[in-house]
Amino acid sequence: MTNSSPWRATVLTLFPEMFPGPLGVSLAGRALATGLWELEARDIRASATDRHRSVDDTPAGGGPGMVLRADVLAAAIDAAAIGEGRPKLLMSPRGRPLTQARVMELAQGPGPLIVCGRFEGIDQRVIDARGLEEVSIGDYVLSGGEIAALALIDACVRLLPGVMGKEASGTEESFSDGLLEYPQYTRPQLFEGVPIPQILTSGDHAKVAAWRRAESEALTAARRPDLWEKAANRAIGQKTPKNTTDG
Ligand code: ADE
Repeated sequence: MTNSSPWRATVLTLFPEMFPGPLGVSLAGRALATGLWELEARDIRASATDRHRSVDDTPAGGGPGMVLRADVLAAAIDAAAIGEGRPKLLMSPRGRPLTQARVMELAQGPGPLIVCGRFEGIDQRVIDARGLEEVSIGDYVLSGGEIAALALIDACVRLLPGVMGKEASGTEESFSDGLLEYPQYTRPQLFEGVPIPQILTSGDHAKVAAWRRAESEALTAARRPDLWEKAANRAIGQKTPKNTTDG
């Protein structure tokens, strides 16, 4: 990765002024300014062809709202000329839920093209014809894909080499081992009569590690039974003797 170009996000949106937005400050912003990653926000409307620069039309079959036209969006995607090898994503509440595993894959690649949906939807034919991968950031509906795109890019950028300094260890964070993060404490030693758990100030590193692991497990079991079940299955898998067929 020495002489290759930096990780790049190419965003297609009707609101390019929403970028870099919050990604222009703090860690991501500093890394953007120093060229550790690149952001290109392209206006979908620039690919409109008619007199009124229209990008949407009423849904075939009737119903409320407007649908983003296939011809306009396809032209915008093609004009971005991203070439082969970069994932083409469409932010959408009906997409596959974004996971830390997918974020890590995206961060390790050259960086995605991201289409931000608006209106009631996007003509299905352009999703199919350009092979867009629909990605959701959660089971709730935003007014457009822009904020979802910002969230996805932020999650990727913080994993890029050199962006996060030594906090980037990442290994103990929520989700990287499939568990939620344990509780953290710092001074003052006594806050509104509540002390820091004694074990954390004991200096016994093994006990601290065991306490944190137990807290992580308890939190995960209570709040995220879905993650807890997966973690439990992985633990069982690890105890199964290695066979010779699965490498
Ligand atoms: N656009 C609107 N809602 C969304 C969501 N939950 N995830 C991704 N994109 C969206």
